[in-house]
Amino acid sequence: MLGLRDLGPERLESILDRAESLLPVVRDGVALPNPVRPAMVGLLFLENSTRTRCSFEVAANRLGHRSVVLTGLGSSLDKGESLIDTAANLAAMGLDALVIRSAIAGGADLVARNIGIPVVNAGDGRHEHPTQALLDASTLRARLGSLAGKRILIVGDILNSRVARSNIHALTAMGATVVLVGPPPLLPWTFAEFGSGVDVTHDLDGVLDTADAVMMLRIQLERDAGRAVASDYRFAFGLTVNRLARLGPEVPILHPGPMNRGVEIDDSVSADIARSAILEQVARGVAVRMAIIEAALELPAG
Ligand code: NCD
Repeated sequence: MLGLRDLGPERLESILDRAESLLPVVRDGVALPNPVRPAMVGLLFLENSTRTRCSFEVAANRLGHRSVVLTGLGSSLDKGESLIDTAANLAAMGLDALVIRSAIAGGADLVARNIGIPVVNAGDGRHEHPTQALLDASTLRARLGSLAGKRILIVGDILNSRVARSNIHALTAMGATVVLVGPPPLLPWTFAEFGSGVDVTHDLDGVLDTADAVMMLRIQLERDAGRAVASDYRFAFGLTVNRLARLGPEVPILHPGPMNRGVEIDDSVSADIARSAILEQVARGVAVRMAIIEAALELPAG
């Protein structure tokens, strides 16, 4: 699972269906009916992470597997060892699959082509974050039913967001229109890779009334995006209480986290019990990652 670019609607729906059936394991601790042979899942996390890393670990554990974690800090990457050498050494320890997050766009793909075990992309630079988009799609499907014909707003730093890119692939494949909203410096200048189903605007207030769902994104300060943003960002692009009031009672609010409260989202918006789907996303993330680990381990090694 390296990206969602080439995944058709049937494959996407089948992953989401499997995740849905695993949700009781996550929510209620229901035991899996058929315990599997325990596997060893490696987690190589070379960028900061709270949700994604713990979610993969919980998912592996819930499936009855074990995990081993290596983060950048304290690893031999600091001594100049390459990403491929690092991953190859982990694979040589007999891991059954490797989950990788790195700042390099294409990093997971590079590793997958150089080691003989299944690789799952947990975020590669500005490129893709497939399991995040799958958990977003799972949450949207649960709230909205079929995504066909739905308008999903993605608001914020689109240019630097792997979450936005993976979501565009997944949501348009499932029949939704994705409306990308942000200041000009934070929107990509070409959309050729996405095909149809993508609208672009700089005017959040102009499209708010048309939204079936709203996904807010953080400004990727670690990728230098902060330089492109004015200090009054919140007034143009923040999901404020006033903007929330313009959304229907059924319109879910999503955010992949980490949130910067008071910048892209107000406190009382994320706390809106009916509309905020933010913690539901997190719960569904474990189920989605269980489905992805399960599928990865079905692949023959080598
Ligand atoms: C996202 C990421 O790391 O790409 N977070 C996540 O995985 N939940 C989004 C972000 O960092 O803004």
